[in-house]
Amino acid sequence: MEDIPQTSAVERACFPAGWIATPFKKELRNRSAIYLVACEASDPKKATAEAHAFDAPSVEEPPKAGLQKLVEGIRGVFGQPEPPPEVQRQKIVGFVGVWFMVDEAHITVIGVRDEYRRHGIGELLLLAAAEGAMQRGAHVLTLEVRISNQAAQGLYKKYGFQAVGTRKGYYTDNREDAVIMTTDSIGSPTYKTLFEGLSQEHAAHWGASVRHIGGG
Ligand SMILES: CC(C)(COP(=O)(O)OP(=O)(O)OC[C@H]1O[C@@H](n2cnc3c(N)ncnc32)[C@H](O)[C@@H]1OP(=O)(O)O)[C@@H](O)C(=O)NCCC(=O)NCCS
Repeated sequence: MEDIPQTSAVERACFPAGWIATPFKKELRNRSAIYLVACEASDPKKATAEAHAFDAPSVEEPPKAGLQKLVEGIRGVFGQPEPPPEVQRQKIVGFVGVWFMVDEAHITVIGVRDEYRRHGIGELLLLAAAEGAMQRGAHVLTLEVRISNQAAQGLYKKYGFQAVGTRKGYYTDNREDAVIMTTDSIGSPTYKTLFEGLSQEHAAHWGASVRHIGGG
């Protein structure tokens, strides 16, 4: 709940026009969805301890807030113990939403604050979303993306999404078409190999991350 104002602000900044705001308060009660936020670590040296503080709300000396540019932790907003007030002040720099429908994990939204892009955060969010999907036994990941959104399509293609169709005039603001993208079976050995390789590359490039993925 306490993450809603920041996450809504990130969403508004990412989708200034033609986007229906996610009703986060309602969505937190949706057991078929998860929302994950990427938080900036207040102190890179203490980042792991900070991320684990979400699991241990009674930590006696939580780290102080700061604004260094390292994003280290992702936590699910579902099912987590209430974090201590100091941790609540962490800056949210990106978020992702996933709906689970039959055997599909549908990525409904993903966004990273403009000034934090190209630092592996979108990829970290996608990694965590895919891990959440694997935990829930989803068979494939799916999503829709604007035909003009090359940045997002670049990210999705890297993770094995392929265009499988279009929805004509899907976006109401400018009647832009949506590309429907989907992965092969995420449980298949081929996808697992791709995923593991990308996950390791991400860690080697951007540093280790701690991911807390709550259940809906
Ligand atoms: C799409 C988005 C989430 C990517 O986040 P990001 O943190 O900048 O992405 P990353 O730094 O993790 O990049 C991961 C991969 O995405 C692709 N990518 C990201 N930005 C790109 C760009 N501007 N051009 C081309 N490819 C891009 C690349 O393949 C990149 O891998 P690489 O670093 O090996 O080249 C971000 O651009 C965003 O928030 N956009 C606005 C909201 C949006 O359009 N969301 C998607 C629709 S729901």
